[in-house]
Amino acid sequence: MANPVTSACCVILAAMMMMMVSAQRRGQEVKPKSRPLLTDYLFQERLQSQRAGRSSQREPHIQYEQTGSDAILRCGTVDQDAAVTWTVNGTDIENPHLNGSSLLLHNVNLSHSGYYSCFEGSSWKLWHQTNLRVGNPPREPVLMCRSNNYPASFYCSWHLPFPTFIPNTFNITVIHDSKQLYCEKDPFPKNRCHIKYSRLFSTQKYQVTVVVTNALGKNSTSISFDEFSIVKPDPPENVVAKPVHNNPRRLEVTWQIPSTWPDADSFPLKFFLRYRPLILDQWQHVELSEGTSHTITDAYAGKEYIIQVAAKDYEIGTWSDWSVATYATPWTEEPKYITTESQKTETTTRITTTTTTTYVVPPSTKVCEPESVIGSTVRLSWLPALLLAPVGILIM
Ligand SMILES: *[C@@H]1O[C@H](CO)[C@@H](O)[C@H](O)[C@H]1NC(C)=O
Ligand SMILES: *[C@@H]1O[C@H](CO)[C@@H](O)[C@H](O)[C@H]1NC(C)=O
Ligand SMILES: *[C@@H]1O[C@H](CO)[C@@H](O)[C@H](O)[C@H]1NC(C)=O
Ligand SMILES: *[C@@H]1O[C@H](CO)[C@@H](O)[C@H](O)[C@H]1NC(C)=O
Ligand SMILES: *[C@@H]1O[C@H](CO)[C@@H](O)[C@H](O)[C@H]1NC(C)=O
Repeated sequence: MANPVTSACCVILAAMMMMMVSAQRRGQEVKPKSRPLLTDYLFQERLQSQRAGRSSQREPHIQYEQTGSDAILRCGTVDQDAAVTWTVNGTDIENPHLNGSSLLLHNVNLSHSGYYSCFEGSSWKLWHQTNLRVGNPPREPVLMCRSNNYPASFYCSWHLPFPTFIPNTFNITVIHDSKQLYCEKDPFPKNRCHIKYSRLFSTQKYQVTVVVTNALGKNSTSISFDEFSIVKPDPPENVVAKPVHNNPRRLEVTWQIPSTWPDADSFPLKFFLRYRPLILDQWQHVELSEGTSHTITDAYAGKEYIIQVAAKDYEIGTWSDWSVATYATPWTEEPKYITTESQKTETTTRITTTTTTTYVVPPSTKVCEPESVIGSTVRLSWLPALLLAPVGILIM
């Protein structure tokens, strides 16, 4: 129940206001009361918004405007010609452009966002609050789909190439053989969902569309691809390189198939190895059709090597990214005396423990797989993987 004192107060205030407005209308000059101190009306503002919790009419409403546009902020339902004062974030607006009771903002940018309040001209009673949010309509989202666990499922992920600064919602639809497939949202990252392959070896293309919507607009991207073209394993794991005793030109490299690859017996992987001494820029490449080990036989004695491995399904899809780099130096007759404490041990093999891989371009499809048919969708799917943007910005 409303406090009777407050209610009475409101009635009196309203009556006073009506008198003042009608006085103004009659052309009489209404001397505004002296302006309350900043803290006074901040307090009043807070008080009003507390009360507003119960009456939705006073809830500051959100107004979205596009950067570069001219915004008109209305003082709620107040008469267009009523005398009002505007503040932003609780402080005065310098030289406000007013059109009656409306505030005009020319060519708005992000810094115009904020809480705008309009007060009845003479009483400093809060009339209305607007939360102005300046942003942009969404651009075409970047969409990519990939299967790193063929034949179990594939996933699609999306992000915006540019931030909009206001909340966006994404709606993804996957159609195969004119049926809509369920794309189960991953808990993390949020801009990703996965789809179980319902039917393997289908010749029908998958059609994926993501629609992004915000208060200022809408945009969408569609891609279509064959089941096999999006297959791209994760990189091989636990790549280890060791010198071979008594053999100054050899390095023994071993690795494991990516743990995400579910059925290497039915869907075998082949591998691609690259290595170079740190002192040279030129990589040497070896493609291996079987096994998970290889012995390098042409290493330079005593030179430290960097070694990486990539994987690909035997028949379909594209090469994985390169594995985490591993380093090794071939065996040397004369033990090298290295001064640093950590390298005192006689073995010169060292495996990088960091997971931050040096960025390297995956093997070019030209070099390693001339026979494979790489559609444009595949090339499309490379790009977003490399751009891997932080997830946070996608759902703001
Ligand atoms: C001022 O408001 C009136 C009535 O809403 C409108 O017709 C007029 O175009 C506005 N003027 C400007 C400069 O926006
Ligand atoms: C935003 O607009 C204001 C007022 O027009 C201007 O002073 C300010 O420099 C602008 N800021 C940017 C980042 O453009
Ligand atoms: C209002 O405050 C917000 C948040 O502190 C700030 O980003 C915005 O630029 C302020 N708006 C104005 C017009 O000063
Ligand atoms: C969608 O985004 C593209 C750029 O990514 C832009 O050129 C186009 O105008 C946008 N479409 C809509 C309807 O906003
Ligand atoms: C997403 O799009 C599909 C197909 O266009 C539509 O049926 C569905 O209602 C949309 N979902 C949401 C949450 O907008």
